[in-house]
Amino acid sequence: MQTADDLDRLYPAHVAALQGRVGRALVSIDCGALAIGAGLTKYRFLDDRPDPFAVNPHFKAWVPILDAPGSFVICVPGRRPTLLFLQPEDYWHKPPSLPDGVWLDQFEVHVLRHADEARAFMPPRTAYVGEVFTGAEEWGFAALNPPALLDLLHFARAAKTEYELACMRRASTIGALGHRAALRAFEGGASEYEIHLEYLAASGLLEAELPYSNIIAVNEHAAILHYTDLKRTAAGTLRSFLIDAGGQFRGYASDITRTYATALSPFSDLVAGVERLQQQLCAMVAPGTYYPDIHLAAHRLIGALLVDVGVVTCAPEAAVNLGLTAVFFPHGVGHLLGLQVHDVGGHQAAETGGVAPPPAAHQFLRLTRRLEAGAVVTIEPGVYFIDLLLQKAQSDGRGRHIDWDTVADLAPYGGVRIEDNVVATAAGPENLTRAAFASIESSPSLGGRA
Ligand code: GLY
Ligand code: MN
Ligand code: MN
Repeated sequence: MQTADDLDRLYPAHVAALQGRVGRALVSIDCGALAIGAGLTKYRFLDDRPDPFAVNPHFKAWVPILDAPGSFVICVPGRRPTLLFLQPEDYWHKPPSLPDGVWLDQFEVHVLRHADEARAFMPPRTAYVGEVFTGAEEWGFAALNPPALLDLLHFARAAKTEYELACMRRASTIGALGHRAALRAFEGGASEYEIHLEYLAASGLLEAELPYSNIIAVNEHAAILHYTDLKRTAAGTLRSFLIDAGGQFRGYASDITRTYATALSPFSDLVAGVERLQQQLCAMVAPGTYYPDIHLAAHRLIGALLVDVGVVTCAPEAAVNLGLTAVFFPHGVGHLLGLQVHDVGGHQAAETGGVAPPPAAHQFLRLTRRLEAGAVVTIEPGVYFIDLLLQKAQSDGRGRHIDWDTVADLAPYGGVRIEDNVVATAAGPENLTRAAFASIESSPSLGGRA
């Protein structure tokens, strides 16, 4: 596993890469500096209780700080960047503490006590990126969230720096630890809620630190793509378990799904079939691959699998063309991953902006770009038995190619999804997820075998 020293070694080149991007983006909007706001604490309606702070992804791209509302990073091309760290005087709460580490050497750091002290540090002709705060207009920014600058930064961040990849490997390991504990809890008869708690304990994350809400679905619940109900009591009969849960490290996400069957059955054959085709799709992740081709390949492979397991009675190709595969696989095959779980820029046509829409029949595909080296994507095919979509198929005629008895047998299992996170590299796909599961199994210190 990558160590803290590796991260320290890789970090300066990461900051240099960000500086290069920002320098180019500032030229394009004729500004001299960029100020990135961390964001602000938000309070619930009619309440003095704050929501968990969600940092601006542009801020955490620069600094491994997730909890310092009111802080700023200021980048002036050719100069060491500045970190304005807001540490208010407060005896009700613990003020954020500046994480130490050699990464700080890359910055000129100023600790502020009041949010408005930051204003005096803003260079002339500064563009601002972040949530627009009350009074921002009076700070004299040359531009607020200028689209041309955002386009360039969003497009560029699909391809990760070595530092970012190191963070994402760690996020994958954290997710794998949570998944392993969750599976043990399921096997021990725990409820969805108890499985969730085991996940948190093993990953060492607070709920608010998860990259997205855990999807922990037993039996039929696996048919709900983003099921987050967490039933407090265990199901009487355990047939299947779908868990879609990620880890987070220094603000970078992993996004991992596994599906398990409790016994050999047509459903376990289906799980094995999805697993096999998922690995074929992962093998397609490479620099130059047009991502929608992976999505279309997923439909072809799922069409063949549905015929194999007896769900669909027509030929696989017809199943795709008639929109039958979309009844059982109604989402995109994956997305960009990084600072956000569904990372930005997936539909961007170029760094100068523009939209590359998904194919008309595949509106839910979140990524329509050609992959560059260093891009991290998820590959997450699935097969589900969703009442709503099955009823539609029945009423619009597609149902005559469906074997309803087989569907009735499989529906109590909900569905299958297998999701890995894969880096496109010239040397072949790097599967962060499989590597993370293998590393915890071979590491005694992480609870694996020697
Ligand atoms: N966990 C949400 C997704 O897989 O996209
Ligand atoms: Mn995903
Ligand atoms: Mn997921």
